[in-house]
Amino acid sequence: MIVVTGATGNVGRALVDRLLAAGQPVRALTRDPGRASLPERAEVVRFRAEDPAAQFAGATSLFLYAQASTVSLLDAARAHGIRHVVLLSSGIIQKGVDETHPIHVMHATAERQIRDSGLAWTFLRPNAFATNALQWAPQIRAGNTVRGVFAGALFAPVHEDDIAAVAERALLDDGHEGAVHRLTGPEATTNAEQVAAIGAAVGRGLTFVEVDPRKAGAELFPHVPPQMLRRMLESFAQTVGVPPEITGAVEDLTGSPARAFAHWARDHVADFTA
Ligand SMILES: NC(=O)c1ccc[n+]([C@@H]2O[C@H](COP(=O)([O-])OP(=O)(O)OC[C@H]3O[C@@H](n4cnc5c(N)ncnc54)[C@H](OP(=O)(O)O)[C@@H]3O)[C@@H](O)[C@H]2O)c1
Repeated sequence: MIVVTGATGNVGRALVDRLLAAGQPVRALTRDPGRASLPERAEVVRFRAEDPAAQFAGATSLFLYAQASTVSLLDAARAHGIRHVVLLSSGIIQKGVDETHPIHVMHATAERQIRDSGLAWTFLRPNAFATNALQWAPQIRAGNTVRGVFAGALFAPVHEDDIAAVAERALLDDGHEGAVHRLTGPEATTNAEQVAAIGAAVGRGLTFVEVDPRKAGAELFPHVPPQMLRRMLESFAQTVGVPPEITGAVEDLTGSPARAFAHWARDHVADFTA
């Protein structure tokens, strides 16, 4: 039995589908089973840190989101028979970065808790997700102009199902214990190019209109906690014109090349047109 936290998330949901397709028993954790609409073949259990037996009994492996990681959760996982944790960490964990950045702190804390837990572990450190482009979905559904910051910010966005494919291998195959996998998409693309690729996928010409980052606020980033927004914008500023890291890890680990952003956009047409 494999336990998947964040089972309604972009990566978690893709992983649940993959594990079920591979014939694996899956326990899908969500804080709200009532609105989760997870596959019937998954055992859906409410995520509650204070009810470890219901979550971990009979399971051997755990896919963990950093947000869900606590020392007590990991202790309970080990006490109930979990042997191996695959953490959805972040590419922000690397030498020379600002270790006070809140995104760094969250993922580094989860990695440290897991290293200290006595459980075997694998850390997935993806860089920017292609799903970050969903931030533009309301504007694209409403018209052909996308207002955003840093038209020239460069990323190598990674498809959520490529991350899930690596997680699947790390959970099902031997040899991933103690490994750190840095995951990226296959090519660099700017924000403006991503918007154009979404336009090509939905069959409309879309224009990216750059907003002065000093004037960007909650209207552009409604899901970003206000105290994190300035730090996030500073991080974006540093990506303008700077070639992003591109690794071959998705292909090396899964045997399939990482999917390009244009592929992701075609997979997500419904998100931009519904
Ligand atoms: N976006 C990026 O560019 C990027 C880059 C590197 C790493 N990451 C990492 O990837 C994560 C995002 O992955 P995603 O897009 O798959 O996530 P997502 O779609 O936002 O889903 C997150 C899932 O985690 C669960 N969750 C959220 N907070 C929780 C908590 N406190 N306790 C337990 N469960 C909780 C939620 O499930 P329920 O509501 O159903 O409980 C939700 O399904 C980030 O949070 C970050 O850790 C992101």
